[in-house]
Amino acid sequence: MRKLFIVAFFTFFAFSQISTAQNCVDCHKKVTPNVVKDWQHSKHFKNDVDCATCHGDEHTTMTDYMKAELPTYETCGNCHEKQTSEFLAGKHSKGWGTLMAMPTIHMQPSPLIEGEKGCGSCHKIGIKSDKELARLRKEGSRYGHASCDACHTRHTFSVKEAKQPQACMTCHMGFDHPQWEMYTSSKHGVRFLLKQTGALPADTPAPTCQDCHMQNGNHNVRTAWGFLAVRLPLPKDNPQWANDRVTILKALGVLDPQGKPTPLLAVVKAADLARLTQEDWQKERDKMLNTCTQCHSRNFAKGELEKGDQMIQKADSLMAAAINVVAGLYKDGTIKNKGVEYPQLLTFHDAPTVVEQKLFVMFLEHRMRTFQGTFHASPDYALWYGWSEMVRDLTEIKELAEQMRLNKKIEKM
Ligand code: HEC
Ligand code: HEC
Ligand code: HEC
Ligand code: HEC
Ligand code: HEC
Ligand code: HEC
Ligand code: HEC
Ligand code: HEC
Repeated sequence: MRKLFIVAFFTFFAFSQISTAQNCVDCHKKVTPNVVKDWQHSKHFKNDVDCATCHGDEHTTMTDYMKAELPTYETCGNCHEKQTSEFLAGKHSKGWGTLMAMPTIHMQPSPLIEGEKGCGSCHKIGIKSDKELARLRKEGSRYGHASCDACHTRHTFSVKEAKQPQACMTCHMGFDHPQWEMYTSSKHGVRFLLKQTGALPADTPAPTCQDCHMQNGNHNVRTAWGFLAVRLPLPKDNPQWANDRVTILKALGVLDPQGKPTPLLAVVKAADLARLTQEDWQKERDKMLNTCTQCHSRNFAKGELEKGDQMIQKADSLMAAAINVVAGLYKDGTIKNKGVEYPQLLTFHDAPTVVEQKLFVMFLEHRMRTFQGTFHASPDYALWYGWSEMVRDLTEIKELAEQMRLNKKIEKM
């Protein structure tokens, strides 16, 4: 009797589950047919991971759809623990926090932050704390909080898609991080694209972004130098370079004009924005070098990576010179800004004067391209879009500074 009851109970339970799933699918075949089609292509479909698993079963009619839940990375983490913990240890999970730490973030139009456009639509790959999520939802933000759908998009959630370099393209392109443009025009990318078109055999060696940055499918994405390629001056660095970097750190507001750490240093540490120790840097470098040696000699690859380091050093020297020119304008009062002694690179395009906007472009567009191009084997980005532009920026900044001083003198006459 008892046994029969249990069987009956589970039959009822299973039936009610199926009917919920069936309801979602049946109605959505009419409402959003392509969502259903996409899901049917996914491994989830084959493994009974249905609409309600990710969206809950509260919403059941044509009108109560605001009751449908929208997933976060934690929803995926329930079943994909390994990828989720790797992801959390890497840089992608920090994308939202670093965005919010920018000093002028509140000055950007809100659709570019909270909406899925502009800064927010790339940085939404980062996770949000419960508090942050509550704040965003209160402000009416409903979508774009799943993080894990950045490379395997909904609702196919396909590994095959995520393994193509195109999966990184939407975000890793353009102004300050044109990795897509650099990669696709490098020999690495050209070969891979020719494999995709079938011109080269499928087993021709050609590295993808994922081969170099997600070795063995590891979701912990992080590089030796990081985005801004700054680290605290380390004992092994040459003294001139260490000096130049102190100047850059002052213009980033991480060090004060006297060279002492500011409160921003804590933010930089928390967001993993800069490598703080030699060991931390070396660990990532060794990992990268081991990838290159799948196809190149260690000797060749080591030398190529060191060229990247050297270009950071050369670029820092031009950058520090330019920062000092602008700092000079603050010092002699040509630029008046109460209590400020240094130009601030993190104000981005909201920098107060033309000469400082030039400085921002030199830093975020041209300095980045100089070393990123070298690391990604892109001759044109390293030279013409990077280094050559920096040299011209410095000349222009010097001339602008002289012009500003002259104008001040004329004003006083
Ligand atoms: C009777 C029809 C019907 C059923 C049953 C149904 N839905 Fe919907 N669903 C809709 C409609 C209509 C919308 C709104 C579509 C629009 O905005 O164009 C919607 C929207 C959604 C959304 C998007 C919400 C948003 O804010 O954009 C999700 C997610 C969703 N449904 C999931 C489910 C799940 C899970 C189930 C089963 C538990 C389900 N639906 C059952 C009709 C249905
Ligand atoms: C593995 C988890 C998962 C499953 C299973 C799943 N979804 Fe979704 N769904 C998502 C994610 C992630 C989003 C994007 C949420 C966001 O933008 O915040 C989403 C968004 C949606 C949206 C709104 C966004 C849009 O593009 O219109 C609808 C509608 C929707 N899902 C319907 C469905 C239906 C119907 C099913 C079943 C056939 C289903 N989902 C199954 C994860 C899932
Ligand atoms: C209820 C458990 C469950 C949830 C929740 C879930 N998945 Fe899955 N997922 C699975 C299962 C089961 C498979 C199939 C595993 C296999 O075939 O080895 C799978 C497979 C995958 C795959 C591999 C697809 C392929 O082409 O091989 C990806 C990627 C994936 N899920 C991403 C996600 C994402 C992103 C989310 C959150 C939006 C999510 N999953 C939520 C259970 C789940
Ligand atoms: C939705 C946008 C988005 C997609 C898609 C994306 N990324 Fe990112 N990626 C970011 C953002 C934003 C950051 C910076 C995170 C932060 O604030 O620290 C980042 C950081 C990185 C970094 C770390 C650089 C460092 O500072 O060390 C690497 C490497 C990287 N991504 C590689 C990839 C690869 C490879 C892919 C494709 C498989 C990819 N990304 C797909 C947005 C994206
Ligand atoms: C097209 C996508 C995209 C847009 C738009 C975008 N970012 Fe980013 N952002 C990225 C990627 C990708 C990275 C990492 C690139 C790298 O490491 O080379 C990044 C890196 C950063 C970093 C450094 C994070 C770190 O830990 O090193 C900050 C800060 C940042 N972005 C702020 C912003 C702000 C502020 C805006 C808007 C004014 C913005 N981003 C717009 C994609 C974007
Ligand atoms: C930067 C792009 C990117 C993001 C973001 C990302 N993935 Fe992946 N994912 C990949 C790539 C690439 C693979 C294929 C790895 C391989 O096997 O080489 C993959 C594979 C997977 C697989 C299949 C693993 C297997 O062995 O079959 C699952 C499951 C998965 N991801 C879940 C997630 C979850 C959960 C998240 C969020 C915590 C996430 N992914 C975020 C790029 C990404
Ligand atoms: C042949 C290997 C290789 C390939 C392919 C590759 N990268 Fe890189 N990537 C590197 C190296 C090397 C660095 C510098 C690492 C360091 O800091 O020492 C780097 C750095 C980065 C960074 C940090 C900022 C920078 O550019 O220096 C990001 C983000 C990034 N790569 C994304 C991508 C994306 C996206 C793709 C594909 C479009 C890609 N990479 C293709 C090797 C590669
Ligand atoms: C999966 C194989 C593979 C991996 C991994 C790989 N490369 Fe390559 N690399 C190639 C091939 C193939 C070429 C094109 C050779 C040619 O032009 O004859 C190439 C070309 C280059 C070039 C252009 C100069 C030349 O010799 O043509 C540089 C520089 C380079 N690789 C550096 C690196 C570095 C640094 C790494 C690691 C971060 C790396 N590669 C990882 C296969 C690879």
